[in-house]
Amino acid sequence: MEKVTLVAIHTFGLESVVKRELLDLGFSDLTVANGRVEFQADVTQIPLPNLWLRSADRVLLKMGEFYADTFDALFEHTKALPWEQWITRDAKFTVTGKSVKSTLASVRACQSIVKKAVVDKLSEKYGTEVFPESGPEYTIQVSLLKDTATLTIDTSGQGLNRRGYRKLAGQASLKETMAAALVLLSFYDKDRLLIDPMCGSGTILIEAALIARNIAPNLNADFAAMGWPQVPQRAWDLARHDARQAIDRTGELLLFGSDIDPEMVQASKANARAAGVGDDILFEHKDIHDLWIDQQYGIVISNPPYGVKLGEYREINQIYLTLNKMFRNKSGWSVYILTGDKKFPDYFKRAEPDKVRKLFNANIEVNYYQYFGERPDRA
Ligand SMILES: C[S@@+](CC[C@H](N)C(=O)[O-])C[C@H]1O[C@@H](n2cnc3c(N)ncnc32)[C@H](O)[C@@H]1O
Repeated sequence: MEKVTLVAIHTFGLESVVKRELLDLGFSDLTVANGRVEFQADVTQIPLPNLWLRSADRVLLKMGEFYADTFDALFEHTKALPWEQWITRDAKFTVTGKSVKSTLASVRACQSIVKKAVVDKLSEKYGTEVFPESGPEYTIQVSLLKDTATLTIDTSGQGLNRRGYRKLAGQASLKETMAAALVLLSFYDKDRLLIDPMCGSGTILIEAALIARNIAPNLNADFAAMGWPQVPQRAWDLARHDARQAIDRTGELLLFGSDIDPEMVQASKANARAAGVGDDILFEHKDIHDLWIDQQYGIVISNPPYGVKLGEYREINQIYLTLNKMFRNKSGWSVYILTGDKKFPDYFKRAEPDKVRKLFNANIEVNYYQYFGERPDRA
């Protein structure tokens, strides 16, 4: 079986979450770097991370990595890579790029050099200069970081966050991959009570339900590598079949969402139904200030509105004070809040946060404040 190196790309700060997911999927030999985790796989395993990774944005096939501070070096090293093993004679391919802290700063120039090198290589290998471009699609990426070029081909196609269930989203909806990561970081399991009192379009709770039901988040999605002859159709069929078999519909889930905006509540319900977990989450229209919690143990994961306009700060501070009032004497509750507002811990005074994780939400720096609750006494 041919071994390949795959790279799971993700939001900065989620390295340990993506790593844990890959280990759970059975991959070993992982290399973790900023925003990416590399791992070894058989070609026939390409469907697995695409179907199952919850917190990564896409899975790339790594073609090579080399030092390139001149266009000549970029051209020659790119051309030396075995493109013909992947890109068919009838393929359609595009090149995307990025450059960070590198001598070759013009992304457009790098893209066209790479395109030319790949075309040259394919022309030599296939003995033709005419390519019909009627076959499978490949997106090559040239990524330069401090003069090291990494060449990859995207196996995912559209981002893995596009799960397909979110027909209706709010202005400030979280990316599905980020919402899944917040849940994975919270020690949630299917027997625990989880609430989001500012649920917006329901993303956090829907991702929690998918986790609890062991539903592969991209079970029904299409991926770029589905059109590649190197990954047999049988591998996709088998991975999807296994994923369907793995779904666990037993037991009742304890997932509750509410929001002050009735349209958002309707959106959450529609989205949950589209994700196949409509019966697993109870959504209601409620102002957080009217919420009453009498259970001793539970988890709250939420991302409150983050006001930029002056007048909104008072309202937002009121929300923090309400959260504080709700949970200050409830040591059995774990509280997880994602916000860009660094003042949150000044208002939420139950304790100092047990952990603060710096993340990026839609390119804005945010913090994930984590306050661990006591676990119920097993006895
Ligand atoms: C940042 S959004 C949450 C987005 C959500 N995580 C998602 O992925 O769609 C904040 C939400 O808080 C809600 N909200 C604002 N004030 C509220 C209040 N007093 N009580 C309940 N919800 C409130 C807003 O309607 C908005 O949907």
